[in-house]
Amino acid sequence: MCNKFLECQGLLQRPRAENSCTSAQNRLLIKNGKVVNEDGIIDSDVYIEDGIIKQLGRNLIIPGGTRTIDARGKYVMPGGIDPHTHFELQLMGATSVDDFYQGTKAAVAGGTTMIIDFVIPTKGETLLEAYDRYRATADEKVCCDYALHVAVTSWNSKVKEEMATLIKDNGVNSFKMFMAYRDLFMLRDNELIQAFTACKSLGAVAQVHAENGDLVAENTKRLLEAGVTGPEGHEMSRPEEVEAEAVNRACVIANQVQCPLYVVHVMSRSAAESLEAARRRGVAVWGETLAAALGTDGTNYRHSCWRHAAGHILSPPLRPDEKTPEVLMTKLATDGLQTTGSDNCTFNADQKAIGKDDFSKIPNGVNGVEDRMSIVWEKGVHSGIMDPTRFVAVTSTNAAKIFNLYPRKGVIALGSDADIVIWDPSRKRTISAQTHHQAVDFNIFEGMEVHGVPEYVIVNGRVCLDDGDLKAVHGYGRYVETPAYPAYVYDLVNAHEKKPRGVPRSEAEAKKFAEEDAALA
Ligand code: URP
Ligand code: ZN
Ligand code: ZN
Ligand code: ZN
Repeated sequence: MCNKFLECQGLLQRPRAENSCTSAQNRLLIKNGKVVNEDGIIDSDVYIEDGIIKQLGRNLIIPGGTRTIDARGKYVMPGGIDPHTHFELQLMGATSVDDFYQGTKAAVAGGTTMIIDFVIPTKGETLLEAYDRYRATADEKVCCDYALHVAVTSWNSKVKEEMATLIKDNGVNSFKMFMAYRDLFMLRDNELIQAFTACKSLGAVAQVHAENGDLVAENTKRLLEAGVTGPEGHEMSRPEEVEAEAVNRACVIANQVQCPLYVVHVMSRSAAESLEAARRRGVAVWGETLAAALGTDGTNYRHSCWRHAAGHILSPPLRPDEKTPEVLMTKLATDGLQTTGSDNCTFNADQKAIGKDDFSKIPNGVNGVEDRMSIVWEKGVHSGIMDPTRFVAVTSTNAAKIFNLYPRKGVIALGSDADIVIWDPSRKRTISAQTHHQAVDFNIFEGMEVHGVPEYVIVNGRVCLDDGDLKAVHGYGRYVETPAYPAYVYDLVNAHEKKPRGVPRSEAEAKKFAEEDAALA
């Protein structure tokens, strides 16, 4: 055991906040705060009734007996939406330790009021069976609202039929395809083309895990043969260009079949540049980066403590270039990237140890659901790279728009769900596995001091973080359906869509084309 073991392990009997919910409160007034939406900051009070925002403005007329929270000097913002979690995921011989209860409770503690998890079928399981399994476990546990993406890990006509059913009957509007994890989840290009085409025909958003799985497999073999077995081999086997190539390939395929694309976990400068270049060419693509990529870096893979290094393993990996976090944050600020997720997929020390002698067997995943908002605030707003309105866009609003949850979620507006975080920019806290609310025994942000603390978190009108006191409620959250054809996404796709046309070789044809062009103009 190395002398850093306790620090890296970060636990020993840590205190746990208990689930002592207060009685339901259906009326709430937030006074004197600065309300932040993606399009501006206004001085406004917010009145909530039965979980919905009912009034905005100053000097509101409010029923007697309403609880009032004074938000003077604080920002009142849409609760975070984490579009990328993996609670209780079975992966690489282990099940991630943050389940839907512990994971969503930690989300709420950090200012996130909705998560979107990924249904990933196990071997032999159909998409619908996997979806039902996730609903059965998540519905009774979640402390905040949630939705589901579904992973397409093989391709055949039944999968296509099930995608249609999931969209029509189950409120799913996004599907993740893997370009890595060969022989497990990976689809080949011809399958990606068909999966993207199906997404387009159903009004869904295609998502990709973008890494070249064949290159990863070859590099892994070569490194293990050369005796590189430690966690550093993980990044060496999947360097930046392996990610950037796949991002570009996915963008080209999506553009060819006119399907909207969301690239999850963009982890490197080159991958972000590939995505930004595609956007400039007019490709309907959106990019997500992670709290992990913004808050730490790949130098951790060379740490002398094996557990510390393994604790940072996720795919695509963190990058050794220490400038990467700032580069990615700047891309978020300037709309080169659009959203932030956590990719929360946590494994304890004994689970990471499955890969003690072979880095390719270390279960992939890190924490972030609790600390994502703090990391983006600290590295983005506190450091001066973005303002609070862009913070709201990249932590909440953009995800709500892309996955068709807006304006129910992602905005403080009349009629929206009362999912709100009251943020104190003047307070600080230090992140640690000893004090976090997650189940996992490690925190990749261990010891980091962050400015900006969620003081109150309101989930569907209920105060679930109350002046710092966590009162998250087991099973209080709801499954939220995400309808097909999100306007934010499909308006752009439709605007770029061109009907295939040959060369007009008669006057009548030329006239017809001219009329069509005029109608579109
Ligand atoms: O390493 C990661 N990212 N684990 C979760 C699965 C995935 O690819 O998102
Ligand atoms: Zn250690
Ligand atoms: Zn992935
Ligand atoms: Zn993931």
